[in-house]
Amino acid sequence: MAHLFTPKKVGAYTLSHRVALAPMTRLRTIQPGDIPSPMMADFYGQRASNGGLEIIEGVSISIPARSYLGAASFYHDGQAEGWKAIANAVHDKGGRVFMQLIHGGRQSHVEMTGGVDPVAPSVVPFDGVALTKDGFVPASPHRALGIEEIPGIVEEFRTAAQRALDAGFDGVELHGANGYLVDQFIQDGTNKRTDAYGGPIENRVRFLRETVEALISVWGADRVGVRISPSGEWGGISDSNPEATFSYVAKVLDEYKIAYLHVIEPRIKGDETLHEGQAPVATKYLRPHFSGPIIAAGGFDGDSAEAIVASGDADLVAFGRHFSSNPDLPYRLKHKLPLTPYVRAAFWGGDEKHYSDFPAYLPAVEVAETV
Ligand SMILES: Cc1cc2nc3c(=O)[nH]c(=O)nc-3n(C[C@H](O)[C@H](O)[C@H](O)COP(=O)(O)O)c2cc1C
Repeated sequence: MAHLFTPKKVGAYTLSHRVALAPMTRLRTIQPGDIPSPMMADFYGQRASNGGLEIIEGVSISIPARSYLGAASFYHDGQAEGWKAIANAVHDKGGRVFMQLIHGGRQSHVEMTGGVDPVAPSVVPFDGVALTKDGFVPASPHRALGIEEIPGIVEEFRTAAQRALDAGFDGVELHGANGYLVDQFIQDGTNKRTDAYGGPIENRVRFLRETVEALISVWGADRVGVRISPSGEWGGISDSNPEATFSYVAKVLDEYKIAYLHVIEPRIKGDETLHEGQAPVATKYLRPHFSGPIIAAGGFDGDSAEAIVASGDADLVAFGRHFSSNPDLPYRLKHKLPLTPYVRAAFWGGDEKHYSDFPAYLPAVEVAETV
């Protein structure tokens, strides 16, 4: 029976354990220019482990794709050195690192998009927020993408994927979750289009297909993952039949033989547990539709992570909040050591405090043994 510390082949890589770092936007780039900072390299280096997988926070593929001031992006050459330093910090400890690529779609504000209206598949009332220099503010009104504009966005995904490859990453993850642009196309609460990108699910996954194909064209399928959040509520997203929609999505992605499918359980809304005590449900119903590795995320601790891997519903578990405050999380889970509580006040921006200053359980662990 598989458990958290049995090796697993994930696409092109053989991982030595199944405790992954979930992507977390922490708003610690250098401004202006969203330059990846040295403290980010420290953060990711500290959390790297031999044969472990890290997924880097959402990285916007262009200026209009941005949603949060201080969040990561990769659309200009001046960012390359910072990203290389992050990839190197993970590789120095024998880890693997995928970059999550995102377009925020309607979850944005004109101050973040370079002055242009945020875009979405359709115009649907939305009372979400974006983060600007004035703090969290109501998102700007969005407009529906013209069909002729869509190839340009797919191309931006391809370019960002190429930048990630050039910077020395091991793969890319498409952010198809949490109500951002890809998710806005998938779900029928936000996609009211009547053209080839809207209507039946076969059409609503067209944008997903095209972006996945763009990433594969750069990386090969075995170095591309996709993240989804069936029944997730972040970003005011909704679907009339999430199980049918996301089962179809899983089947589509299975055809491409991508490296992994990354599933956020609906008990989580973004950075919070919404339904305390709810068992994992999404991974369970998706499992029969996806033959490759599934990464489950959202609300796991060591015991529940072991249980879902043992059940076969998931092959790996990604941890967000616990990993934020436990740089040596795989080691602590393996040795059943206590966890340091996370500090929510430091999630969305700040400096090194409660970001890259959490100690490992044993100081020597950082150098001697990471798992
Ligand atoms: C501060 C913070 C930022 C996050 N940013 C992202 C992100 O950039 N991309 C993403 O897919 N999920 C993001 N998430 C969600 C996490 O990846 C994860 O799904 C969530 O924290 C639930 O997992 P956990 O219970 O292990 O924390 C974020 C979560 C937190 C706490």
